[in-house]
Amino acid sequence: MKKYLSLIYLGLLLVGLLTLVACGTSGNEESNTTGSDTESDSTEESAADEPEEKKVLQIGTDAAFAPFEFMETGEIVGFDVDILEAVMVEAGYEYELKNVGWDPMFASLQQKDLDFGVSAITINDDRKATYDFSTPYFKSTHMIVFNEGSDITSAADLEGLKIGVQNGTTGEDAAEKIVGENSSTISKYETTAVAFMALANGDIEAVVTDNVVADEYVANNPDAKVEAITDEESFEAEYYGFMFPKDSELVTDVDAALTTVIESGKYAEIYKEWFGAEPNTDELLNAAE
Ligand code: ARG
Repeated sequence: MKKYLSLIYLGLLLVGLLTLVACGTSGNEESNTTGSDTESDSTEESAADEPEEKKVLQIGTDAAFAPFEFMETGEIVGFDVDILEAVMVEAGYEYELKNVGWDPMFASLQQKDLDFGVSAITINDDRKATYDFSTPYFKSTHMIVFNEGSDITSAADLEGLKIGVQNGTTGEDAAEKIVGENSSTISKYETTAVAFMALANGDIEAVVTDNVVADEYVANNPDAKVEAITDEESFEAEYYGFMFPKDSELVTDVDAALTTVIESGKYAEIYKEWFGAEPNTDELLNAAE
């Protein structure tokens, strides 16, 4: 009980500090500060007292990708956010999750300005050339979202349509595979949420994005009158991982913690909370090679 009380005090302290910080800066980034370590008072004195204290990891995301990461009453929430928290508690790291945006996240990771990124990021060879990845934590594929009544039954039907994707995503790759690289029929948006808006406005006729995000958008926006289909022959399965700057020393620790979170049943608990179903954790662990 005492522990909980001191956690509550710490929480209040953090809220107070954050409010001060928020008042003192003009930045517009949203961030959540969380951590498993209760020693998060970062005055110079306590830093000097505890030279071995691990630093607060800076983690980036693009929180416009429900249900993986999105903003709710000023906070970053989602499946990824809960998995990250479980992994960081397991690994014993303090961290701060920041809504930096998709393209800036890649740039910051390359410059090593962030410790890692958690943003439903697909592990692929292209990215592996520049970044390191954790083992996989989610299996995904692509779907096409379109306005009800459009005659779209397969990926091939994208040919000749105005397509929207989030810039720099595997949705963009998937669409380009069908209609050609740099095709003028593809519009690239800064976020997936904006691509959905463009579909609602009639600027585009289809959005290619990750299946769970497509399903979530269809389910949560009955007024938008959209539907989604997949095409297993055209869209390949892919896996999400946490993405690190090349040669990051954190990968080993994070992988070990992630494996424990999956094997302990904590992963399944979070998965069920978000998706109401049992995950295939064997498949995930096997995909880790
Ligand atoms: N899985 C896709 C990719 O890695 C899309 C991820 C987009 N994530 C986001 N938070 N916007 O390219």
